[in-house]
Amino acid sequence: MMIRTVLITATVAIGVTGVMAQSDAISQRKELMKKNSQHTKAVSAMVKGDAPFDAKVVTAAFTQWADTAAQLPKLFPDDSKSGGETRALPKIWTDRKGFDAEIAAFAKAAAARPTDVESLKKAFPAVSKVCGDCHEGYRAAAKK
Ligand code: HEC
Repeated sequence: MMIRTVLITATVAIGVTGVMAQSDAISQRKELMKKNSQHTKAVSAMVKGDAPFDAKVVTAAFTQWADTAAQLPKLFPDDSKSGGETRALPKIWTDRKGFDAEIAAFAKAAAARPTDVESLKKAFPAVSKVCGDCHEGYRAAAKK
């Protein structure tokens, strides 16, 4: 977090060039995706019964997913197709409608606010399905 803050400050101080703007969008979306994943792990443990239901964590997770869905539309500008070790597929830009539909589905699933393990068991699969659907269509496989 410190390093990120320093980098952003440095970027602003030097003046935002095209390359910097591009790598910034890539690093921002990857940062949000990492948070997505941390929350998915915590919530999934509750669904499986490996961890007790924790309303605070669940609300934080759904709130972060919804916030991420709101930010995603602006984090794939035309100049962020490559660089920054991005795994974003070109299809995001050739099929923007389809990609936007995945973002909308994500926002919809993340709008749920489960209050107990039963409602969580209904709401969470919709979220994890859209993570998988969007990755399948618009994210390249990880390099080994
Ligand atoms: C609308 C499409 C979309 C949705 C929804 C989505 N992702 Fe992603 N995700 C992507 C794309 C595209 C990338 C590649 C980003 C890049 O490398 O520039 C990515 C990358 C990632 C990464 C790798 C980040 C890194 O450091 O390289 C993780 C982890 C991840 N997503 C988790 C999730 C989880 C968990 C969810 C659901 C809660 C989710 N994503 C929902 C499109 C999506």
